Amino acid sequence: MSIKIGLLGFGTVASGIPFLLHENSSKILDASRDQLEIAKVLVKDEEEKERLLAAGNNFNFVTNIDDILQDESIAIVVELMGRIEPARTFITKALEAGKHVVSANKDLIATHGKDLIALAQDKGLAFYYEAAVAGGIPILRTLANSLTSDKVTRILGVLNGTSNFMMTKMVDEGWTYEAALAEAQALGYAESDPTNDVEGIDAAYKAVILSQFGFGMAIDFEQVSHQGISSITPDDVAVAQQLGYVIKLVGSVEETASGIFAEVSPTFLPKSHPLASVNDVMNAVFVESIGIGESMYYGPGAGQKPTATSVVADIIRIARRIKDGNVGKPFNEFSRETKIADPADVTSNYYFAINTSDEKGKMLRLAEIFNSEDISFEQVLQQKANGTTARVVIITHELSKTQLANVTEKLTAVSDFELLNTFKVLGE
Ligand SMILES: NC(=O)c1ccc[n+]([C@@H]2O[C@H](COP(=O)([O-])OP(=O)(O)OC[C@H]3O[C@@H](n4cnc5c(N)ncnc54)[C@H](OP(=O)(O)O)[C@@H]3O)[C@@H](O)[C@H]2O)c1
Repeated sequence: MSIKIGLLGFGTVASGIPFLLHENSSKILDASRDQLEIAKVLVKDEEEKERLLAAGNNFNFVTNIDDILQDESIAIVVELMGRIEPARTFITKALEAGKHVVSANKDLIATHGKDLIALAQDKGLAFYYEAAVAGGIPILRTLANSLTSDKVTRILGVLNGTSNFMMTKMVDEGWTYEAALAEAQALGYAESDPTNDVEGIDAAYKAVILSQFGFGMAIDFEQVSHQGISSITPDDVAVAQQLGYVIKLVGSVEETASGIFAEVSPTFLPKSHPLASVNDVMNAVFVESIGIGESMYYGPGAGQKPTATSVVADIIRIARRIKDGNVGKPFNEFSRETKIADPADVTSNYYFAINTSDEKGKMLRLAEIFNSEDISFEQVLQQKANGTTARVVIITHELSKTQLANVTEKLTAVSDFELLNTFKVLGE
């Protein structure tokens, strides 16, 4: 007997699965206690089927999802097509047909995961998606299993390889955002429409999933504010370096007294912080907790073999649970009432870059505006921009999201000042 799998899609990740099943066959057999067999593979059309067969892929390719859904011998459906539709419909139908499901689709899980998880629970089926966050880094199962005794207080992550590659070029080699994006596209890291990667949307999807596993709270994607890297200028990068920081796109999820808060934003990281040395396309998740303290999980957040490794681990776990007779258990059992933090409770230090005219009294006026919101400065730098303007850089002491919104409004209302950028600064 073998456990039969139906693959949906045969792109980058899916085509890495046969490699592992072949190269690691005896360990996988021992772990799953049964042979894993790719019984059918769904592809888009006949042309794709012919192309894949001609390229030497010896699988039973089908072009109609019903060929998989109606095949009672298939126990596990592995969705690796990406995007929301038709993935959402196919997964729903697979669960309704009594099949366990594995997916790596963070977009779908972050936006419609609640319904799919509930359906799987209702049907007593497994729905696993380790590869959806940081590809090859086994972070979800680590949070769900190894950290059950611990209380997580904050998760910080470099969660998007494309934007991290670009930031590394911008920081280490002084490239502009535009040049870094062109290189990322030339190397195949960034898609022709890079919005999800560079605007922090992809990282925000992952923050939604991390909030469930780390904090037991199911926040909605719309509740995660996201700011991308497109507004970062070489001036911001240079001043960060001068002050001992590295800028990275960081996803953060933290619990405050009033609830949970998640966001993705360019962040000044002290050079000594472990996340500051996560470069190129690598990912890392930095977990702060009351038991372990600080721990970091580092590795490839994407790529065929790393991601397929996480997917196959999910398949093995399901196969094993089928054998053990306890397959209906949810991937993540930590669940409590979701409470969103009051902005007044969410605090951080901030970087402000402001242009002003190089006239007497402007600095005093600026200090008054910050002072009116009870915000004090940790560091101030005044740089001459050109003949008549000055660029002022301020690193503040801790302030809340409420103070941040108020001071931003005041600064933009005054014609004396041009607010160029505001980024989070992580304390030492
Ligand atoms: N690549 C990574 O490193 C990585 C890392 C973590 C998570 N993931 C996730 O893993 C999933 C797969 O990613 P990938 O990089 O392997 O994507 P990919 O290379 O684009 O592969 C997806 C494949 O599915 C096919 N497909 C799309 N719609 C289909 C349909 N209706 N029926 C049959 N086939 C269909 C696509 O065909 P066409 O090309 O013709 O559209 C493509 O061949 C995504 O959810 C992604 O977010 C990927």
